[in-house]
Amino acid sequence: MGGASPRLLLLFLLLHVNLLTARLHRAKLTPADEEQPSLAATPPRDLPPFSPTTFFEVTKPAPLPPASAPACSALLLQHDFGYTYGRPPVTAAYRPSCARLRRGRAPSHVVLQWSASSQGRQFDRIFGVWLGGVELLRSCTAEPRPNGIVWTVRKDVTRYAALFVRPQTLAVYLGNLVDNTYTGVYHVNVSLHFYFDSSHGPRRAADYHAPGFSTPADLVLPLSRSLPLNDGLWFLIQNSTDVQSTKLAIPVNTYRAVLEVYVSFHSADEFWYTNPPNVYLSENNITYLPGNGAFREVIASLDGEVLGAIWPFTVIYTGGVNPLLWRPISGIGSFDLPSYDIEITPFLGKVLDGKLHEYGFSVTDALNVWFIDANLHLWLDRQSSYTSGSLIAYEAPSYAPSLYSQFEGLDGEFKTIASRYISSTGWVNSSYGEITTHFFQKLEFGNLMVFSGNGSNQMINQTIDFEYGINTKHPSSVLYSEHVLRSFPLYLYTGTTDQVNDTYTEVANLSIGFDENRFSGQKFGFAYSSLKNLQTASGYMKVKGNLVQSGLGSTQQVYTYESTDGCYFRNVSSSNYTILYDNSNDSCTKSLPLGKQFGTG
Ligand SMILES: *[C@@H]1O[C@H](CO)[C@@H](O)[C@H](O)[C@H]1NC(C)=O
Ligand SMILES: *[C@@H]1O[C@H](CO)[C@@H](O)[C@H](O)[C@H]1NC(C)=O
Ligand SMILES: *[C@@H]1O[C@H](CO)[C@@H](O)[C@H](O)[C@H]1NC(C)=O
Ligand SMILES: *[C@@H]1O[C@H](CO)[C@@H](O)[C@H](O)[C@H]1NC(C)=O
Ligand SMILES: *[C@@H]1O[C@H](CO)[C@@H](O)[C@H](O)[C@H]1NC(C)=O
Ligand SMILES: *[C@@H]1O[C@H](CO)[C@@H](O)[C@H](O)[C@H]1NC(C)=O
Ligand SMILES: *[C@@H]1O[C@H](CO)[C@@H](O)[C@H](O)[C@H]1NC(C)=O
Ligand SMILES: *[C@@H]1O[C@H](CO)[C@@H](O)[C@H](O)[C@H]1NC(C)=O
Ligand SMILES: *[C@@H]1O[C@H](CO)[C@@H](O)[C@H](O)[C@H]1NC(C)=O
Ligand SMILES: *[C@@H]1O[C@H](CO)[C@@H](O)[C@H](O)[C@H]1NC(C)=O
Ligand SMILES: *[C@@H]1O[C@H](CO)[C@@H](O)[C@H](O)[C@H]1NC(C)=O
Repeated sequence: MGGASPRLLLLFLLLHVNLLTARLHRAKLTPADEEQPSLAATPPRDLPPFSPTTFFEVTKPAPLPPASAPACSALLLQHDFGYTYGRPPVTAAYRPSCARLRRGRAPSHVVLQWSASSQGRQFDRIFGVWLGGVELLRSCTAEPRPNGIVWTVRKDVTRYAALFVRPQTLAVYLGNLVDNTYTGVYHVNVSLHFYFDSSHGPRRAADYHAPGFSTPADLVLPLSRSLPLNDGLWFLIQNSTDVQSTKLAIPVNTYRAVLEVYVSFHSADEFWYTNPPNVYLSENNITYLPGNGAFREVIASLDGEVLGAIWPFTVIYTGGVNPLLWRPISGIGSFDLPSYDIEITPFLGKVLDGKLHEYGFSVTDALNVWFIDANLHLWLDRQSSYTSGSLIAYEAPSYAPSLYSQFEGLDGEFKTIASRYISSTGWVNSSYGEITTHFFQKLEFGNLMVFSGNGSNQMINQTIDFEYGINTKHPSSVLYSEHVLRSFPLYLYTGTTDQVNDTYTEVANLSIGFDENRFSGQKFGFAYSSLKNLQTASGYMKVKGNLVQSGLGSTQQVYTYESTDGCYFRNVSSSNYTILYDNSNDSCTKSLPLGKQFGTG
């Protein structure tokens, strides 16, 4: 603990954690809170006429086929989410209504559309949309205004195409509470839009050389909790020793498998990257503070063996840090949380026995609570009723984050650094031949946490570099390779003043980025994409209890996507609920000569 006086540090951290709890962590809303409406600060008022603001998350439009392609839309669910906390998810029967789907034709593109409106006052609520237990969307609601808000999330769900040709149960869990203070009801429509290519079958010669890499999975299986529930279908991970798991058997003619993991963090870990480490009071008297430090790792395992790790992107929900920052431009990933793919084809040899195997999820140093579930995407050999395989090489060395700290009085810094490498190689024999798949993950984490102003200001400067790659080959030639480099830079400064009882003023400066470079290559083509998505924001607010009394938030965002399949650029800014400028275009400024080879095979 550097040269700091441990006692002072402890005092300070206790004080600080209290502050953090007050300003970054919203009250945990349980039915117990609901029984105490005296917490409500403002009596209900008649709402003004509905003249809504449109909230949005900046992202490239979901890719659509040409206008000439046949399309078909279906409204799956229309529901008003009032008092839904701790109640069963809202369900609806999904049936393939389009004639083409009924004929068993897989769509070439599918877009899920979530449209919602709300009016009044409400917290941000996490929600999930599942079809047949498979999670399609993890998202957070926008916080309403007295005049009302509307927002729409459109997500490309083509990778789940196999689900849509069969009847399924659609489930939506959005735990909302409505009382005199938190009056907002969420009015929601969930729709699917299907598009069908006019051409049949695989379009690219290259497909034949990299089976499983250019078409959606033949089967998508849920690794989630089953209905009936009074909660979401996700698993709840409450602490660092909590492992949640489920058993599943897969078809014995699987030749490729990808585990897609959905992750969100709440309550004591909503801002895990701002949590100070636990503190040793004295050598023989260890006092654990509710911090657990600023590093978290999500682990996916198969029969107890690590399949892969996730060092998650720090999604800030619409009520996070300063809610005024996210009106109307929502935080990166807040309306469509990223999911994380782990290629598990190298492990197929272990699960092609037709028996049940255990898939587990845990979070290193977790505080209550993480919501985690996963989808298993499987590609099946249509020419053969069984496949076989074996793991050839596997490496998941143990590692330990290193912590450095230096304090003088109450002010000082913590620095946390971690890096990790995981790799697996295995072969699978199918009618495509004996294909060897290599998968690796390379992860780097750095978090600098600086306290100043006698403990009233906190600065976080964090970077996560999350790299992974896949390589598949026949004995003689490389079939397909993919390399993804993701980088999540985060800078967060918060300063608290005028704290009296439950009232305080907070200033916040924030910069958060989601950058991704993706390269993929196969014999007849090469694809490349680059995304730079950066938000910078600053604001202040006066808070009483859990309610923002007054303040201002300003946000700028620059989104630059360039790829061999097209480009998208947007530069937008807002302040005090008003858009200051908003420029976008989809023209590629750089020439991408290699791209022309892709898709013409
Ligand atoms: C939901 O759909 C209904 C009818 O199609 C429409 O009247 C309503 O405005 C929609 N609600 C939202 C939030 O989009
Ligand atoms: C961790 O969480 C699990 C599951 O809720 C619980 O059974 C266990 O007692 C918890 N352990 C600790 C140390 O809190
Ligand atoms: C540990 O420290 C706390 C707080 O100073 C004190 O109350 C407690 O008696 C100590 N326990 C031991 C075993 O020394
Ligand atoms: C590989 O699988 C094919 C059928 O898909 C089978 O004919 C062949 O014998 C298998 N080869 C080996 C070495 O198991
Ligand atoms: C810093 O905060 C501590 C604890 O609240 C207080 O005792 C101390 O006087 C403060 N120091 C300064 C220089 O304000
Ligand atoms: C954050 O840290 C990176 C390097 O670790 C540095 O380049 C950058 O300037 C820092 N940002 C701020 C705002 O301190
Ligand atoms: C803070 O709370 C105390 C105790 O409840 C009360 O006496 C005091 O008046 C409050 N201060 C303010 C500024 O509200
Ligand atoms: C916060 O942002 C404001 C306005 O952009 C700037 O004046 C101030 O220097 C920033 N402070 C910190 C600590 O980053
Ligand atoms: C975004 O637009 C603002 C205002 O027009 C401009 O000052 C800024 O340079 C633009 N940023 C980029 C990256 O184009
Ligand atoms: C924000 O805009 C409202 C009008 O919509 C205005 O009354 C208020 O003063 C503005 N706040 C600031 C801090 O500029
Ligand atoms: C699109 O935006 C980029 C970034 O500002 C700019 O360089 C380019 O000129 C724009 N293209 C068009 C056609 O406006």
